[in-house]
Amino acid sequence: MEQVSHNYRLERSGHQEGYIERLPTHVQDLRSTPPDLFKDVSFTDWASLTWNKVNRPYKVDKWAEGKKLWEQEHSRSMPVKEGWQHFNYHFHQLFSKDVPAELSQTRSDIFASLARLNVHGAGEALQELIQLLVWNKVHRVEDAIWDPRGKRALFEGLDLHKPEILFLGAADGYEAMQLLAQYPGGHAVLVDYDAFCKTDRFGKFPPQYPFLGMNPATGNHEVYYRDDFNIDFVVDDIRNLKYGQEFDVVVSIGLIEHFPDEYKHEAFEMHRRFLKPGGYAILTTPRNQLKSRAFYTIMSDYMNYGYRELMDIYQMGLYAWENGFDILRAGYIKAHNGLICKPR
Ligand SMILES: C[S@@+](CC[C@H](N)C(=O)[O-])C[C@H]1O[C@@H](n2cnc3c(N)ncnc32)[C@H](O)[C@@H]1O
Repeated sequence: MEQVSHNYRLERSGHQEGYIERLPTHVQDLRSTPPDLFKDVSFTDWASLTWNKVNRPYKVDKWAEGKKLWEQEHSRSMPVKEGWQHFNYHFHQLFSKDVPAELSQTRSDIFASLARLNVHGAGEALQELIQLLVWNKVHRVEDAIWDPRGKRALFEGLDLHKPEILFLGAADGYEAMQLLAQYPGGHAVLVDYDAFCKTDRFGKFPPQYPFLGMNPATGNHEVYYRDDFNIDFVVDDIRNLKYGQEFDVVVSIGLIEHFPDEYKHEAFEMHRRFLKPGGYAILTTPRNQLKSRAFYTIMSDYMNYGYRELMDIYQMGLYAWENGFDILRAGYIKAHNGLICKPR
């Protein structure tokens, strides 16, 4: 125990602005210099957009084998919440992987299967190898999932002081932690109806992962860690929440694209209902780009347990505009579109 806390202190002190390191599981990136990979399209005239002009989002329809098997066994569609439990469990397996070690093990497995003329085994190992290579590129090379530089750029410059933050469908809570680093002294409520997110996705989020934020006392950057933040995790359906208008920020990361159009207004209402007057709704959704379509195809067994759209920033902005939000900032980062809005 003594050794662990000693190493932890040493590691903490090593994380300063400008630091970048590629670990076997993820990247730690505290660079604050451009390019921040935020493409800003805030100047768009949202009132002039129509669905005819922007078209409708792309619907992902390659389902996880696990979902298909479950549905055969139960003779009904997998319930939405059950789908999220499968998704969170499988997605978390990816974040836990020592990718270089697994890549070399999988390569050995392919050769071993081929040596035994086990074509089926070699095929399965080859599929695993392809998934690992994709995960390595997306998460360990491009850092496109957490994307701290893009998220910092999206979140910067807001009028927030010690904010109260509500995170709808929080999963690992990453973006609440990034917001709390940039606007320190605040408090976040993470809500997810999958208890595994509280115990594992957030509960086992690496405590040494450094978040680059601000120190309001000095006006300089400061590095924060999960345990520095004031966070409560509520396991509940976001539709059951009974808060008043008490949050400075209501944020969701990859939530509204899981609501088909007839339910979109409900999803946006959740972002409005709990906001203080003048508060910000911050939303992101995965981009409709070739890379993302390939990701959700190749990684379908990990990711695709329920309804999912891929959209562009104009489609996302039009949804927000139609649902009564003014758009203060709009743009896209590596894998997601992002909006900073206020209710109109
Ligand atoms: C696609 S994930 C968000 C992506 C996330 N950034 C991640 O890393 O997985 C959406 C999350 O919202 C949660 N969720 C979906 N509908 C919900 C609801 N009605 N109430 C509470 N949580 C919900 C799911 O359990 C899931 O963890």
